[in-house]
Amino acid sequence: MSTFSKSNFKTLNYNSFRPHYPPSFYKILINYIQKGSNQTSLPINKAIDLGCGTGVATYPLLNFVKNVIGLDLSPSMIETANSLKNRRLEELGIVNDNSGDNGNLKRIQFKVGSVEEFVNNQQSGIESNSIDLITAAQCIHWFQDYPLFFENSSKLLKKGGTLAYFYYIDPMIVDFQGPFKSSLNKEELIKQIYELYLKYAYNDPNLIGPYWEQPGRSILKNYCEKVNSYIPKNLYENIEINTFTTNIETKLPNDLKDLDMKKLKISIMDYIGYFETYSGFHNYKEKTGNENLLKKEFLKELLELTGWNLEFTTIDLVWNTGYTFLRKK
Ligand SMILES: C[S@@+](CC[C@H](N)C(=O)[O-])C[C@H]1O[C@@H](n2cnc3c(N)ncnc32)[C@H](O)[C@@H]1O
Repeated sequence: MSTFSKSNFKTLNYNSFRPHYPPSFYKILINYIQKGSNQTSLPINKAIDLGCGTGVATYPLLNFVKNVIGLDLSPSMIETANSLKNRRLEELGIVNDNSGDNGNLKRIQFKVGSVEEFVNNQQSGIESNSIDLITAAQCIHWFQDYPLFFENSSKLLKKGGTLAYFYYIDPMIVDFQGPFKSSLNKEELIKQIYELYLKYAYNDPNLIGPYWEQPGRSILKNYCEKVNSYIPKNLYENIEINTFTTNIETKLPNDLKDLDMKKLKISIMDYIGYFETYSGFHNYKEKTGNENLLKKEFLKELLELTGWNLEFTTIDLVWNTGYTFLRKK
């Protein structure tokens, strides 16, 4: 998947506008890890976060893993991940101690490289049967050759070790605060807003839809069912698959079991900022030269539809999500 590794991809914007995985999700993951191992105490020893990007899911692993490696094929993502070290450790409340062999900065390392080389072709240089946890957040849909990936991930994992992949797909505005002007009632209006989002993201052949790299985006949109279909049952057990689909009636996920991705009361411009981090939008911009599709055209249609006010309106955004956890036999 090459869009994220293009030198003009804005990795700092990516880090600011993308949602982060909530503490409730790491609790679900920790419960799963502990259920399957003899070791009930934390921290576990070693984790690898594949397709780590700017380290969104990598840094929080330090809360329950001693040593973490983040791997990504994009040099600019890794540069940003490294540049955020001090800030992220501070945010996580981890003392930023660089002294001695066990200094906290040394507990996390980022490497440039592809999953295909590192895992599939076994070029990691990491001992077999030595890893407690492999994560792949919002990226498994880009990987090549799932049979080989599952086989060689299991070689890196210790017996009882966990492979966890998780992802979020489309966000839906489920509620908003502030006045609106429309002949529709609030629920109907929210459905229309989602239709407008879908038109820009996928459905109109003149907009972002044709610019997604495939088959990655389709795999993701189908809740990674294709990836799940390759899980080898002879190598993994306790397969746990969870998906959550947003709708206006249920509104919020159940944070005890779902990957609960939401941003509440955000500004309209933050919503647009998130939409602008889509790799499909990056490709659209490059091919058409139109930088303003979302900031101007989408925004104009959105405001016409809703009568919202850029200064006062806030919106509640909830993502469709999913995760799969596997334990090495
Ligand atoms: C949408 S970002 C997710 C980043 C981060 N894990 C997160 O949750 O925000 C996808 C990342 O996967 C990386 N990626 C895609 N395919 C990859 C591969 N085959 N090997 C290594 N990294 C890959 C991209 O460079 C990009 O940084």
